[in-house]
Amino acid sequence: MSEVLRFGVSIESDLLESFDQLVARQGYATRSESLRDLIRDALVRSRLEGQDVAGEVLGTLTLVYDHHAHELMDQMAELQHQHHGLVVSVLHVHINHDDCMEVIVLRGRTGEVRTLADGLLSLKGVKHGKLFVTLAARHITEHTASRRAHAHAAAPPTRLRRKAAGQSGRPKK
Ligand code: NI
Repeated sequence: MSEVLRFGVSIESDLLESFDQLVARQGYATRSESLRDLIRDALVRSRLEGQDVAGEVLGTLTLVYDHHAHELMDQMAELQHQHHGLVVSVLHVHINHDDCMEVIVLRGRTGEVRTLADGLLSLKGVKHGKLFVTLAARHITEHTASRRAHAHAAAPPTRLRRKAAGQSGRPKK
């Protein structure tokens, strides 16, 4: 395990107060542990965005939108039909009198999945939304293995080294 360092952070008091309330609500023992998880999550997301993923990515896009915006629903359906190969499944929930939520399961090349998600998120009438992208664990392993093979041709088998290093294919939650 790496050396633990302390560092100072300048932050507005109301922002810190809200963060501390969040930390308490989520059940973290300390502010530091919560911050570490936030940093890890950002790093994982950054890596997913940056790497050239050879295989497909899996995504869930959650959208909350105005039920009365009928033009929006037509646009959403049209976009999904244009990219039907990426859309695995759609869950629609009537949240209340005014709002709908859709969870769209996507599967495909990372650029295509993100482009479709951006197209849906940017439609007028979508009040909030987020794309969550992940990889099948074996695709993460394949990518890591091929990079290591280039860098360390004489090293022991990847599976053994990964185990020895205590790495798992999934980020800590
Ligand atoms: Ni609805």
